[in-house]
Amino acid sequence: MKREFQTDLAFAKELDEKDPLKNIRDRFYVQPGEIYMDGNSLGLASKDAEKALLNMMDIWKKEGIKLWDGLFHYAGKLGEMSAPLINAHPDEVVITGSTTINIHQCISTLYKPTKERYKILVDDLNFPTDRYAIDSQVRLKGYEPKNAVKVVKSQDGRLIDESAIIEAMTDDVAIILLPTVLYRSSQVLDMKRVTEAAHQKGILIGWDLCHAIGAIPMDFKDVEPDFAIWCTYKYLSAGPGSIAGLYMNRKHFKETPGLAGWWGNKDDTQFELKHEFEHQRDASGWQIGSPSFLAMAPLEGTLTIFNEVGMDQIRTKSLLITAYLMYLIDEKLAKYGYAVGNPREDSKRGGHICLEHDEAYRICKALKEANIIPDFREPNVIRLAPIALYNTYEEVYTLVETLEDIAVNKKYKKFSNERTLVV
Ligand SMILES: Cc1ncc(COP(=O)(O)O)c(C=O)c1O
Repeated sequence: MKREFQTDLAFAKELDEKDPLKNIRDRFYVQPGEIYMDGNSLGLASKDAEKALLNMMDIWKKEGIKLWDGLFHYAGKLGEMSAPLINAHPDEVVITGSTTINIHQCISTLYKPTKERYKILVDDLNFPTDRYAIDSQVRLKGYEPKNAVKVVKSQDGRLIDESAIIEAMTDDVAIILLPTVLYRSSQVLDMKRVTEAAHQKGILIGWDLCHAIGAIPMDFKDVEPDFAIWCTYKYLSAGPGSIAGLYMNRKHFKETPGLAGWWGNKDDTQFELKHEFEHQRDASGWQIGSPSFLAMAPLEGTLTIFNEVGMDQIRTKSLLITAYLMYLIDEKLAKYGYAVGNPREDSKRGGHICLEHDEAYRICKALKEANIIPDFREPNVIRLAPIALYNTYEEVYTLVETLEDIAVNKKYKKFSNERTLVV
């Protein structure tokens, strides 16, 4: 969509004034004097999340073991609250495990290699943990990753071509795992097109939604993937290491979990404690062990905000604020070696901007010195996520002014280029 912007501060203030989400910012802990642009790595804490966590503490304090009476279905309740974000049936979603564990769970459940169909299709730009999990899953089935993991390669290190993915769907592919939004370049893959193509070829497909959930609306009743997994600590702001999401399509409820545990047993017989596993036939049947209530409670708080605001409003603001950032980059920063590395079309970019610069690493350090929090991704990417719920247009304006100042005055030079563990 074409949008008209201006380069002056007054224009940024005008956008803030007109922002329908401007009051939501007050529900988040935005640190005075700091501009937080890293909500796509670890979302900021909210008052709603804090209240839900303290409430959980209170329940524990007052009820002890009796808390199970009210919380036995808590993972499913949070799944129900998450379902609108992807327009899934509520019984298809559960909050459990971590992204990586949930990949293991879904793949070990659905990957049933035969002599003819034994490969798992992936791309070479996904986050490494997905690859580690896939490689270990094929090994568990007696294959070598070099023979059984088929990798669609990016042509430019930034983007994956959907046609290349579809071309790679040969008769020996059993299952596919892809990211919905690429963590570095912010590219959005066309889930509907790719999922349909996979199903036409008799291949199962799952999506890693880590960079998509809470950033872009999705419609799983329409796309009908086989499974999906996501973390809740990025756009969903549920806290460091918060419990992840798992979607299992209803058509697979009949499958037995690859990684069974007593929390996947049928609710009504779980406490009979029998040694024969009876699978609960909905997404909660893919839980493994006891749910971690204290790590889940903040999600209840933030999901309240997401369901109140709705993904459509969130996406509308996200598209506008990222378009504004790209405009300012083009107008003010392009001459200093900065370049937009993400796709520009609305339908093709996620919630963050991928800003490239040869000195990206040192520029990130200089930004932090100026109290602006970005994150760096090898080899040359400054990831910037103006989050719809709590970032302002004025913050984006100041960010660009600071990036200009860092480049013009070579402020990055005082920092070492040597990589440290956490940037
Ligand atoms: C696409 C993607 N998948 C998985 C993960 C991490 O997995 P886990 O939540 O199990 O640590 C990340 C982390 O940034 C990610 O970006």
